Amino acid sequence: KVADLLRQLQKTHHLSLEEYELILSNRTKEDEELAKNLAKDCTEEYYGNGVYTRGLIEFTNYCKNGCHYCGIQRENQEVERYRLTKEEILDCCREGHQLGFRTFVLQGGEDPYFTDERIVEIVKAIKEEFPDCAVTLSIGEKSKESYEKYFQAGADRYLLRHETADEAHYQKLHPKELSFQNRMRCLQDLKDIGFQVGCGFMVGSPGQSSKSLAKDLYFIQEFKPDMCGIGPFIPQHSTIFAKEKQGSLEDTLFLLSMLRLIQPNLLIPATTALGTIDKRGRELGILAGANVLMPNLSPTAVRKKYLLYDNKICTGDEAAQCRACLSRRMESVGAKLLVDRGDAKKAKEAR
Ligand code: SAM
Ligand code: FES
Repeated sequence: KVADLLRQLQKTHHLSLEEYELILSNRTKEDEELAKNLAKDCTEEYYGNGVYTRGLIEFTNYCKNGCHYCGIQRENQEVERYRLTKEEILDCCREGHQLGFRTFVLQGGEDPYFTDERIVEIVKAIKEEFPDCAVTLSIGEKSKESYEKYFQAGADRYLLRHETADEAHYQKLHPKELSFQNRMRCLQDLKDIGFQVGCGFMVGSPGQSSKSLAKDLYFIQEFKPDMCGIGPFIPQHSTIFAKEKQGSLEDTLFLLSMLRLIQPNLLIPATTALGTIDKRGRELGILAGANVLMPNLSPTAVRKKYLLYDNKICTGDEAAQCRACLSRRMESVGAKLLVDRGDAKKAKEAR
């Protein structure tokens, strides 16, 4: 039955909420293997064996929010806070461009110091110096007016994980001043403005169930994002979820395959969190259906200060080392890093 549903999904890219739940709660090892193989065919049809890369610049670890899972949330007194200057950010882009990155992702906590004016100035400076590159922002929930300003300044994409499509679960993961409605409003505004939008969630976050995961998959099917980032939840020792269980490799790989089957042209990263819970996590992620990698371009001096979870990998490496290491890792699974902006292929533009 699960196998039939997986085959149906590969053809129609559409299932009901109940069917997703049935798959999630009844799948066997054989079903996982089938999902992986079907997903691999879809990835190849759209993207061949090419893997897109984004240079991730973690430009501030100040945050006004208190997300319960997150290592850099405002209550964490252990964190040494930092902000990069515009010049430092541009230096990261310069190094990244030389290494072959054609997308820069500016990610940070929700830091009030970075007003719309400052963000606009930074985006404009990057687009002016690197007109061949895409700029992605990942700086949380803002008003529609703010998002419009960033878009007009030249930002191309925006990553805002929805975290969970189940409202009660959302409330368990976040303090009460953050609302599910506002998160959804943000994602819709970003799409309406014209951004390429990325949503996503953590696999195995506290309180997650087959039912809530089914809602995540159904939400993605209906919302049709351009990108979707998922990675295992990994506890961070000074958060209230310190003692919770981390998300599993098997679940994450299976969900990566499901995402690929739901939307064959989706841009799906094999995340750093996946590489953290297993030495070959990112390679396995690519084999399961992912087609994007987002290595760190932040200066090595600040990397150990952007610890969302414990044991994060690649916090000591130089950017050049990261690129070379990933290139070797990809070759080991028959994939190849591309020098490309890496926009999503149009739904029918299969290779
Ligand atoms: N402030 C922006 C936002 O909230 O969208 C961007 C930064 S936020 C740290 C990026 C993502 O990190 C979150 O969307 C969350 O899914 C992920 N994350 C945070 N804590 C994590 C943890 N303990 N384990 C795995 N992923 C985590
Ligand atoms: Fe703001 Fe994590 S709580 S970035």
